[in-house]
Amino acid sequence: DTKGSDVCVITAGVPRKPGMSRDDLLEINSKIVKGVTEELVKYSPDTIIIIVSNPLDVMTYVAHTASGLNKSKVMGMAGILDTARFRAFLAQELDVSPKDIQSLLMGGHGDTMVPLPRYTTVSGIPVTQLIAKDKLDAIVERTKKGGGEIVGLMGTSAWYAPGAAAAQMVEAIMLDQNRIFPCAVLLEGEYDIKDIFLGVPVKLGHGGIKEIIEVDLDESETELLRASEKAVRSTLEDFKKLMDK
Ligand code: 2OP
Repeated sequence: DTKGSDVCVITAGVPRKPGMSRDDLLEINSKIVKGVTEELVKYSPDTIIIIVSNPLDVMTYVAHTASGLNKSKVMGMAGILDTARFRAFLAQELDVSPKDIQSLLMGGHGDTMVPLPRYTTVSGIPVTQLIAKDKLDAIVERTKKGGGEIVGLMGTSAWYAPGAAAAQMVEAIMLDQNRIFPCAVLLEGEYDIKDIFLGVPVKLGHGGIKEIIEVDLDESETELLRASEKAVRSTLEDFKKLMDK
């Protein structure tokens, strides 16, 4: 059924139950994502792959390794979803449309993700000028745990916002829109990070990832990104240990 696909979106895997972290899904989902990826590339050797399965950053690594595809063609969907949550909470606080909020968020798709208020504006007005620091800090914290908040409310993982976010990525690729989105991609020295999939801003269009964009981060932002890298790397190490078993 998938033969000759230009883009494949992999959502296969078990979802989180209340109280579980995304990392608790590692063992079972890595087998599922590996198997699905191998089957997909057999019939669509030139496909682009977008991963939605969790733990997101490591599952994207698994798909990249299993597919043998160029790094520009394998990416994880997380940043659009996480910025959508950030934008929604900011819009509620300010009583404005989330459409007018532009924001950036980096790092892994877990509680260490790094929303960046310094790169967030409401129609060009820095959000740091509109919301007091303590309130902004609380919104950043709520964003980081936004996925868990939904799991707690619904008893299972979110699907609407992840679906809408993946659709935006597919559209950007198929229509060659050159959109700038945070996506989980393989870093090879960008941001001084290597050999790991992590969320950073990229340009998406025909062929997949056209460019990884490196923005200036201040000391505290860099520290938060490093902590997020460390968390993802530890899950990646757990995955590698599982493979050695
Ligand atoms: C989320 O954050 C499913 O990880 C996904 O809702």
